[in-house]
Amino acid sequence: MALLLRKIALVFVFIYSVSISLISVFGRPATFVEDFRVTWSENHIRQIEGGRAIQLVLDRYAGCGFASKRKYLFGRVSMKIKLVPGDSAGTVTAFYMNSDTDTVRDELDFEFLGNRTGQPYTVQTNVFAHGKGDREQRVNLWFDPAADFHTYSIFWNHHHIVFYVDDVPIRVYKNSGRVPYPTSQPMGVYSTLWEADDWATRGGLEKIDWSKAPFYAYYKDFDIEGCTVPGPGNCATNPSNWWETINYQALSAIEARKYRWVRLNHMIYDYCTDRSRYPVAPPECTAGI
Ligand SMILES: *[C@@H]1O[C@H](CO)[C@@H](O)[C@H](O)[C@H]1NC(C)=O
Repeated sequence: MALLLRKIALVFVFIYSVSISLISVFGRPATFVEDFRVTWSENHIRQIEGGRAIQLVLDRYAGCGFASKRKYLFGRVSMKIKLVPGDSAGTVTAFYMNSDTDTVRDELDFEFLGNRTGQPYTVQTNVFAHGKGDREQRVNLWFDPAADFHTYSIFWNHHHIVFYVDDVPIRVYKNSGRVPYPTSQPMGVYSTLWEADDWATRGGLEKIDWSKAPFYAYYKDFDIEGCTVPGPGNCATNPSNWWETINYQALSAIEARKYRWVRLNHMIYDYCTDRSRYPVAPPECTAGI
């Protein structure tokens, strides 16, 4: 009997260690604390579902934020997020990568701008390369992002940067060789929930309604696959990383069709066509996809 129990225990230890090694290969941490740390107001971030998901809280006193423990050079970061429901006007939930290098910083941003109940959420994206941003695009979401979890991903390789909402590319920034492009600075992964009612909703006209506070956003299924820095020195230039392989060097035909659909039907602002800011469209705007 004792022997049998020991055998069963050994089998479990074996299964457990196999699953641990799979987790590290595929970059999906089992829990939030494996890959992330709280950067702003510890008491406004709650771990739920045994640490596999978190709840972010915004109230009159504070918002909150978290960041990855490591930095990454190329790869894909994705999370499932459920945004603040109902009257979320004036709230901003952000999910971004940032090199934290002051004047030469690289940054890839998703910002979810809340709205009055029943009005569409806006996703603003921005790309900073070598310290210069001012590349805002805005898309109104075609579903209610507070009703369910949806996957938001930032994909980054030597060929392009793609922002995805589920499997729909909403933005492509192509490394055409003629544009500033992040290629050497590793970036950390960040998220925050905060109040920005001076600009977020209808340009600041709609104010936050504190009687609806606290506001909650939820995150789960954290997934970072990329080259960690510090880490193996040749990782970032290794052409056999899956994110560098042939199928990921440009959008597929299906993705290109979805991308055109978003731009035609849901894009509400594009700096590329804002002639008051850019009398001549910047070079990345004519690089194609
Ligand atoms: C909020 O809703 C208004 C009215 O539908 C819309 O014009 C706007 O783009 C939406 N998003 C934000 C962030 O204001």
